[in-house]
Amino acid sequence: MDLRQIKSGAEDTGLMTYDPAFMNTSSCRSAITFIDGDKGILRYRGYPIEQLAEQCTFLEVAYLILFGELPNQPQLKEWIGEITHHTMLHETSKKFLEGFRYDAHPMGMLTSTVAALSTVYPDSRQVLDAESRLLQIKRLIGKMPTLAAFTYRHSVGYPYVYPDNDLNYAENFMNMLWKMVEPKYQANPVLARALDILFILHADHEQNCSANAMRAVGSAQTDPFLATAAACAALSGPLHGGANEEVLKMLDVIGSKDKVPAYIEKVKAGEFKLMGFGHRIYKNYDPRAKVIKWAADKVFEVTGRNAKLDIALELERIALEDEYFVKRKLYPNVDFYSGIMYQAMGFKPEMFTVLFAIPRTAGWLAQWQEMITDPEQKIARPRQIYTGHEIRDVIPMEKRGA
Ligand code: CMC
Repeated sequence: MDLRQIKSGAEDTGLMTYDPAFMNTSSCRSAITFIDGDKGILRYRGYPIEQLAEQCTFLEVAYLILFGELPNQPQLKEWIGEITHHTMLHETSKKFLEGFRYDAHPMGMLTSTVAALSTVYPDSRQVLDAESRLLQIKRLIGKMPTLAAFTYRHSVGYPYVYPDNDLNYAENFMNMLWKMVEPKYQANPVLARALDILFILHADHEQNCSANAMRAVGSAQTDPFLATAAACAALSGPLHGGANEEVLKMLDVIGSKDKVPAYIEKVKAGEFKLMGFGHRIYKNYDPRAKVIKWAADKVFEVTGRNAKLDIALELERIALEDEYFVKRKLYPNVDFYSGIMYQAMGFKPEMFTVLFAIPRTAGWLAQWQEMITDPEQKIARPRQIYTGHEIRDVIPMEKRGA
């Protein structure tokens, strides 16, 4: 703010920075996630993403992101119990979902239903109360898989399946998605673990578009359900969490491996972007994409190889050698392979961004909590450079001409 004292004259508002899209502006101090985009490093609370993906469960990682340390055995047991306790939805949410058209996009349904939870839990408005915040955090992490599964069941016209407290986080989600008439759903353990790993990889990513939305909306002391709905809305865009769905559409359009070179030429000619490639921060291979490739192999051992994988591998091979991509440091990002893996596991493309939103809720809530408790933070309110008219008088209608 001291820069504002530098003025060219009495009328001048003072020196301000102009940085559209925050290309070089930090909006906060944060101790949650560290990214070194040039080296391809991602760490939550100091722990490398590769170690977390290999050795931990998603709920352990969610605890780490939210509270700063990995839980010990009793802490984890208590945390799992609390999250499990909050997986049920109020019946009004079910009725709310029933109002959507059969072909409503699951991400639209999820965003609106998360927002509607704000009316179910009016106590969530007490955002300055630490105990209340913790309760809403548990509610949101517990309910997101239930809501996500219900959006899917709605879109295929199946009855909703209620949570099963005997199952772990990923298995329970699979149960609510795919249980039919069997008395007890048995998730394939390889697929459940793969899903849990994907949840870990997506849990947080510092100040991305949706985290920024969560912080900006939350900075008005809006309740966390509404702020999370805002974050979901940001995530649904094709340049952000919607990219995984776009990758699958792109692979369908390409159709076969031999058509890849012609498609790349069109990308280079600026006709469209290669979805699942490029990142604002990573100018190296996205470390999450590396873990996903490894997890995908395990999934394909169970499900059989997804035919689209060959097209994706060829796209990656050509793009990584091509000067256009090399010069711009465009590498595959997290969305490039996740969609192929999700599809092999039986998810339809419209569900992909919903799958991203479930674990990212932990990250959004950690960012929100950090923002609320940061004495340096205030309501987010950027400045602008006004480019409109100087003052002018309203001309009466009869004198405005045809
Ligand atoms: N295909 C072709 N060219 C690209 C791509 C791409 N995917 N991404 C960037 N470029 C080009 C871009 O045209 C520009 O070229 P030039 O300098 O000639 O104008 C240059 O690379 C720099 O790109 P930018 O648009 O200035 O980069 P950005 O940091 O503003 O955008 C991005 C980052 C992720 C929005 C962009 O790379 C993109 O649109 N990628 C495709 C969508 C995608 O995969 N999104 C998922 C991101 S990762 C997960 C998440 O955040 O949710």
